[in-house]
Amino acid sequence: MRDQWNSKVGFIMAAIGSAVGLGNIWRFPYIAATNGGGAFLLPYFFVILTAGIPILILEYTMGKTYRGGAPSTWARINKRFEWLGWWQVMCSFIIITYYSAIVVWVVSYLGFAFTSAWGADPTSFFVGDYLGVTDSALHLGGIQTNLLIPFLCVWLVAAVIIYRGINRGINLACKICLPILVFMIFILVIRGLTLPGAVDGLAYMFTPDWSALLKPSVWVAAYGQVFYSLSICFAIMISYASYLPKKTDVVNTAFITATANHGFELFAGIGVFSIMGFMAFQQNVAVSDVATAGVGLAFMTFPTAINTLPGFNAFFGICFFGALLTAGVTSLISILQAVTSGFQDKFNVSHNKACTIVIVPAFVISFLFITGAGLNILDIVDYFINNIGVASAGFLEIFLIGWFFKLEKLRKEANEFSNFSIGKWWLYAIKIVTVIGLGAMLILNLKDTILNGYGGYGIADITVFGWGLIFLCVVATIVLTLLRGREGYDKIPDESDVSLKEKEAE
Ligand code: ALA
Repeated sequence: MRDQWNSKVGFIMAAIGSAVGLGNIWRFPYIAATNGGGAFLLPYFFVILTAGIPILILEYTMGKTYRGGAPSTWARINKRFEWLGWWQVMCSFIIITYYSAIVVWVVSYLGFAFTSAWGADPTSFFVGDYLGVTDSALHLGGIQTNLLIPFLCVWLVAAVIIYRGINRGINLACKICLPILVFMIFILVIRGLTLPGAVDGLAYMFTPDWSALLKPSVWVAAYGQVFYSLSICFAIMISYASYLPKKTDVVNTAFITATANHGFELFAGIGVFSIMGFMAFQQNVAVSDVATAGVGLAFMTFPTAINTLPGFNAFFGICFFGALLTAGVTSLISILQAVTSGFQDKFNVSHNKACTIVIVPAFVISFLFITGAGLNILDIVDYFINNIGVASAGFLEIFLIGWFFKLEKLRKEANEFSNFSIGKWWLYAIKIVTVIGLGAMLILNLKDTILNGYGGYGIADITVFGWGLIFLCVVATIVLTLLRGREGYDKIPDESDVSLKEKEAE
């Protein structure tokens, strides 16, 4: 018998724990900042409404109806779709390897925050003393030994939670982490808003720029951010929902998850941008000048801002990195769970064995990210896996389910136990608006990446860690799809089998 969440609240907490992660606090502000601040918000809201929420409802419905990790769920929908589940699992697997590294930085920085150990120049400290960044992604430069202890701690904690299973592990971790996270972010936002210059930061975040609507890169970034932030299209929510009882109200639950996630994201963004506004005010420069640090925003710009606060610097540093840590852990375990359930549901392996099959290789590969080349590799891998891997997984998901499957059947399934029903708009949002919007953006962005590479990295770096990585994922996807699974893994188990058959007969 497969596990089930102890309660609906337990599931909602786990889903929010998964959604609210580094993506909300570390990624959203820098993605918004590098895509024009307020300009980014229009595509962002459009994508939440037309793709984010509809796909979340879709994945919850798929998971609870077909009751398997992504590969088995896809195989149960149609045996010929199984590969897509493995592609999503591979995206998750790669994300685990570097997500864990960022959590490692966060652990170190939480420690540094007590004494402002990053010194007067946090940027040089981060790239030099702390990460020992080399000149290229191919020049590894050895393991940074100062990262080893936090690295082992993060993996140990993640492994313990995953081995303990969904209720005794994931659920418990979320119950502990979420209240701490909300409390710390509250403190930060209140502090941020009361600083001089905060209003300039907020103006930068919220002033819309209509011309940005014409830039495909802004749209791709919006799709990428919403998928990443909601944990959709890369196996997580299908896997989490597969432990739901059949009678769950998925529509309501999806709205709760999405509102909590994006509400939190904007709320945290308000805190971060107010503090950036304060920094710009202190240095007498424009907010756009302090808001362009890319992946380094949390580790370079923020410590600099904390240094300049008028008082209680250590306290606010601890709140910021403590929030990042709690958010990061609950998301990291959800990504691990998505991959683990993929293996457990297809192959004849126990929960513990599936955990080991996933954790050991992910742990070994993630050593790459604590070498001197780690930051550069991470930047390239994060771009390729999100903008090509997850974006294509999302596109293929809605394309296959929208055009080669009776989506209406899933709408009925979603509505059956839901308080309020989703109308036909849901079908059009998935089948038409998102297929066209995401499809077009994906192609334009792909073309741009093929022609121009990414982030000014050398061709060799991009070939190995960008295209090479995508190629390896394709190979792994094919192999895992072709491997023989246990008897009947492509059939819906237990009672849901009966109810679906009944429905089909209707
Ligand atoms: N949804 C997770 C995050 O935002 C992956 O970090």
